[in-house]
Amino acid sequence: DELKRDLQDLLPDYMVPSAFVFLDTLPLTTNGKVDRKGLPEPQLDSGASGQSGTSSEVANAALTQQIAQLVADVLKVDAIDPNANLLDLGANSIDIARIANLMEQQFQYRVPIKDVYSLSSVGALAKNYDDQLVKETTQQSSSPSTGDGALAADFKMIFHPEDRKQFKHLRRGLRQENWDSVKLTAPELDDALKQTYLSRYSCRTFSSDPLPFDRFSHFLSHWRQLLVKGQTKSRYGSAGGLYPVQAYLYIKPDRISGLKAGTYYYHPLEHQLKIITPDAEIDRDLHASINKDTFDQSAFSIFLVGELAAIAPLYGELSRDFCLLEAGLMSQLLDLSASDHQIGLCQIGSCDFEQIRHLFALNDHHIYLYCLLGGATDQSSPLVDLDAVTIHDDWEEGTL
Ligand SMILES: Cc1cc2nc3c(=O)[nH]c(=O)nc-3n(C[C@H](O)[C@H](O)[C@H](O)COP(=O)(O)O)c2cc1C
Repeated sequence: DELKRDLQDLLPDYMVPSAFVFLDTLPLTTNGKVDRKGLPEPQLDSGASGQSGTSSEVANAALTQQIAQLVADVLKVDAIDPNANLLDLGANSIDIARIANLMEQQFQYRVPIKDVYSLSSVGALAKNYDDQLVKETTQQSSSPSTGDGALAADFKMIFHPEDRKQFKHLRRGLRQENWDSVKLTAPELDDALKQTYLSRYSCRTFSSDPLPFDRFSHFLSHWRQLLVKGQTKSRYGSAGGLYPVQAYLYIKPDRISGLKAGTYYYHPLEHQLKIITPDAEIDRDLHASINKDTFDQSAFSIFLVGELAAIAPLYGELSRDFCLLEAGLMSQLLDLSASDHQIGLCQIGSCDFEQIRHLFALNDHHIYLYCLLGGATDQSSPLVDLDAVTIHDDWEEGTL
């Protein structure tokens, strides 16, 4: 812990090792570099290796501590025994309501009203939050039982926010072998190039001012299809040029000038929004806790849906994968263009689309793929100091 604390003073967060292994000598390759393959696997204590989960029998200690602090603040006491009954500690119904509100603000999780009184201690509140987190994450990641997707079941899932953060810092997506390498050239990392990176970002807060109709229309026009000698021409590719992925929109009341609330289909050839369900309302419960605030703030939602009838006759079982790839290309195109229109977007990995399926006049062969939330922003990129953008060239030194 001491070593970690010292390193935290010296290094940025992501470079602080999550585990330490002490060796007398480092294994070397024949050309004298550290042989990464010869290094022992670090033992992570909280499931961050991806091979072990954390029991939710007892809620994460840090989480319990955070909730205890929150409750202590409400009850105006210095410290709280996690097992003590809140009512015995003098909490009244107003205190309980405040605790529920503060938990919602801090953890984006609302303790169900019916449970507020049965969850009578800090420990019980932490456990309830913990179980909910496990349930949501498991639902979001329910993996297919066949094909490559089933291989994901080889890994135990990591649920706690801290453990997930630690796992992210391991950068398992990077190969760490000590291969001989060829250094590539790149344009100079000047301010313009840094801006290119910063202008595409996931936006989770939006301006509540109505988004002007033209700005929104021009933004959607990146998906507009043209014709070249009668053939569809689009700014993204599609297997066989079939374009089976359709965009459906939900617009909130008074958030886009000149557009009434409701659901729409975007017709890419006509560049028109077709009204499907006027005045439809979508509830925040469509989304996982982590995305509810983003949804509350957003002005519009875009749901990408694959029409299997438009692709399966030519591509059979590959159709869903091809639709997902196309949805990714469509999202990337809008993501890259959004800031030019002072629009922010956030990609949403999973939502309970079945809840709202009826709002879009779909048939059984329409498959839900992906969701984007968006709205007006006040600036074209997040306010990040350009000096803070650097090239990460030290991973070869074994710092990760
Ligand atoms: C497949 C996928 C699913 C995502 N799901 C969510 C999500 O549910 N909620 C969210 O806030 N961001 C989501 N994101 C956005 C990522 O968190 C984001 O792209 C990543 O943290 C990098 O940050 P940046 O986009 O600002 O560069 C998703 C991104 C992808 C590609």
